[in-house]
Amino acid sequence: MMHYRIPFNRPCFAGNEQRYIQEAIASGKISGDGQFTQRCHAFLEEALGAPRVLLTTSCTHALEMAGLLLNLEPGDEVIFPSFTFVSTVNAFLLRGAHPVFSDIRPDTLNMDEARLEGLMTPRTKAVVVMHYAGVACEMDRIMDLCERRGVAVVEDNAHALYGRYKGSLLGSFGVMATQSFHETKNFTCGEGGALVLNDPGLVARAEILREKGTNRSSFFRGEVDKYTWVDVGSSYLPSEVLAAFLFAQLERSREIQAKRQAIWNRYQQGLAAWAAGSGVGLPFIPEHCGQSYHMFYLMMPTLESRTRLIEYLKGQGILAVFHYVPLHLSPMGVRYGGQPGQCPVSEDISDRLVRLPYYNDLSAADQTTVIEAVSRFTP
Ligand SMILES: Cc1ncc(COP(=O)(O)O)c(C=O)c1O
Repeated sequence: MMHYRIPFNRPCFAGNEQRYIQEAIASGKISGDGQFTQRCHAFLEEALGAPRVLLTTSCTHALEMAGLLLNLEPGDEVIFPSFTFVSTVNAFLLRGAHPVFSDIRPDTLNMDEARLEGLMTPRTKAVVVMHYAGVACEMDRIMDLCERRGVAVVEDNAHALYGRYKGSLLGSFGVMATQSFHETKNFTCGEGGALVLNDPGLVARAEILREKGTNRSSFFRGEVDKYTWVDVGSSYLPSEVLAAFLFAQLERSREIQAKRQAIWNRYQQGLAAWAAGSGVGLPFIPEHCGQSYHMFYLMMPTLESRTRLIEYLKGQGILAVFHYVPLHLSPMGVRYGGQPGQCPVSEDISDRLVRLPYYNDLSAADQTTVIEAVSRFTP
């Protein structure tokens, strides 16, 4: 693997990770749902104002739980943005759902709410939104439409913990939302996630699905006198070792977000003049949205200039990456009927987007190196 002077991502430590892992080990319990898991649950419930949050082994698994909780049946349709990560969709296909791909807005790169109603049919069961780069989808219009049509909304909130729409936290709109604590996210434990349950009516079944289809959680709370098999399920709970690592990051969330905000602002200020003079687009944050400072991207004028920029930065020891090949044109998307031209904005921007190095401990000196290198590039 090539070593970069400035990598795209680097796992950063908030301070107490090793101490809390040692405490978890010393407590004699390293399986799931111990004291550190409870502390992460309480923290996230408070942060999101959610009735219940459950840690999971990944955002992918939280999405799978959401798919199970929606009671999807084969042939039910679920609408997704084409410009998202595969797990947003896979989790629901595992339940037999048929994917319907929506295009995105060219400004925020989020699901285009104006196209949503046209994609709905009597079989539409759910809409899964993803707040790209932690900038909100147009939730007023999406929620109004879905409420009117009796369609559930799930938020894939992997990028967007602490993002806001008109003052309300992202992850608090849908019946459920999912978080990621993968190494590339603002807060991490390597691999991890959470399911946010905004409908108290889903909590009891969610606990069962997460614990192999058993009522183990109720048993430990003394609500039932036997622990037994009551439903389908899987094992979606992380070990206490991971929860201990994650809690060390969550408890420092303010400092982490402040660092990420400073990084975002430095990119924005350092690159604005170059971008304006070179026909390069920078992220757009609508006035009514508070972003999560998850990423900083450039929208290059062409595929050719993007490829050249990535190569040029590589030559300077800087790793910049692109992501999200439109899902409707992937081999799986094509199997479900995806065709070129179906989501023209997704097709266009996915060829032109570049993400710059962004991690909590990215130093101002290294960031200056990136900004100066980019500013010397002619698209
Ligand atoms: C939008 C989105 N959803 C879901 C995931 C999956 O997250 P995890 O790796 O925690 O399963 C990711 C991961 O990068 C993502 O970007």
